[in-house]
Amino acid sequence: MPVIVLIGAQWGDEGKGKATDLLGDRLDYVVKFNGGNNAGHTVVIDGEKYALHLLPSGILSSNVIPVIGNGVVVDLNVLFQEIDGLEARGIDTSRLRISANAHVIASYNRSLDKVSERFLGSRRIGTTGRGIGPTYADKMNRVGIRVQDLFDESILRQKVTAALLFKNQVLSKIYNRSAVKVEEVVQELLSYVDRLRPYVADTALELSQALDNEKVVLCEAGQATLLDVDHGTYPFVTSSNATAGGACTGSGIPPTRIDRVVAVLKAFTSRVGEGPFPTELHDKWGDYLREVGHEYGTTTGRPRRIGWLDLVIGRYAQRINGVTDFAMTKLDNYDGLDEIPVCVAYDVNGVRHDEMPINQTDFHHAKPIYETLPGWKQDISGCRKFEDLPVEAQAFVEFVEARVGARISIVGVGPGREAVIERHSVLGG
Ligand code: GDP
Ligand code: IMO
Ligand code: MG
Repeated sequence: MPVIVLIGAQWGDEGKGKATDLLGDRLDYVVKFNGGNNAGHTVVIDGEKYALHLLPSGILSSNVIPVIGNGVVVDLNVLFQEIDGLEARGIDTSRLRISANAHVIASYNRSLDKVSERFLGSRRIGTTGRGIGPTYADKMNRVGIRVQDLFDESILRQKVTAALLFKNQVLSKIYNRSAVKVEEVVQELLSYVDRLRPYVADTALELSQALDNEKVVLCEAGQATLLDVDHGTYPFVTSSNATAGGACTGSGIPPTRIDRVVAVLKAFTSRVGEGPFPTELHDKWGDYLREVGHEYGTTTGRPRRIGWLDLVIGRYAQRINGVTDFAMTKLDNYDGLDEIPVCVAYDVNGVRHDEMPINQTDFHHAKPIYETLPGWKQDISGCRKFEDLPVEAQAFVEFVEARVGARISIVGVGPGREAVIERHSVLGG
């Protein structure tokens, strides 16, 4: 039965958490398939705010089984902090399943993330400092520690020893830090074993059986298309596949079982960290949208960089992810504007580009070509049907829809669970 993949169309923070939560009562499983606690999803239910980093947003729906897939990197300290925080607020987390093949973020990788960023200086990526990049690098270098390794103390010790053989040289000789002791890392990781055990499962097998039994599974991306290590603005990206393809490798669900791909597209653009951003605003409108949209990082609290909506990126996201439906969020943040510029193409050294330039240098030099749409100057947060929206807001959505290559099925008009217009069911139909 249906597998829906939900991804971010831009540079993250589009409102993926809210979109997942919105679909919650129609889902049986929500699988996080990439990233770790670099993600930050804010979900507002009945005026109560939940900030999730590592746990899939589906944890907030009592009928959903949340799954941390094999493609995720898990900081065990953060995992249990988040579980304890939710339990204290009355959310039952016992349904959580964690893949035995997911990798764990060891303390030395958090240190390496921070010191390497400092070392890069002006060339830094602006990472979240959570150890994400070094942990994925270890996975690829085949010196990573997996969840299952924690259940065999002798294997764990061997793996930590092997990893530190090289890392301690780097830490001490390049970064001038003290070497890390194998036993300290091993004991820290072992301290989580008893709490971790009940959650660990063969999640790929469970998901396959669930699908055979007609269950509905949503694979929820962390980060977004332009932060994808292959398809994003490399090197200013995260270290995993945040695009739809990552849903297969990061969960064990085969491509032939995926039915729909929903891309969450914010009505404007934001970016945290370094890297190119053609429609970035350095004027009062950037500050205005940052304030009305509360655009400060859920994970690091950094003010997000803000820009106008970029349809070159929207089209690119549609193509790379095979998007069947868009969810446009934060349309209400335009309520106070007289007019709204939308980027429809780029000018690169006098040449018009309707698609993403093939090389990064051109993308750095891309100047947005705007079309300006009229604003609506009224509060749309109470609208629940498309026809309720002012005609200018309807025209805005239709303008975007005509240029991004897939229907806009959901329109967000406020942060709350209820503040949404559903034009089409993303489960098909
Ligand atoms: P994610 O990382 O993609 O899950 O997004 P974040 O949670 O980091 O950022 C999105 C923010 O926008 C959150 O604070 C949401 O509560 C908020 N949000 C989501 N959809 C809407 C919407 O339609 N309107 C408004 N005003 N806020 C929204
Ligand atoms: P959600 O899931 C926005 C950015 C960081 C940095 C780059 C690499 O909330 O959309 P990393 O720590 O992953 O190695 O940092 O990626 N980044 C995000 N930006 N939203 C996120 O997640 C992000 N996760 C990572 O700011 O530029
Ligand atoms: Mg976020």
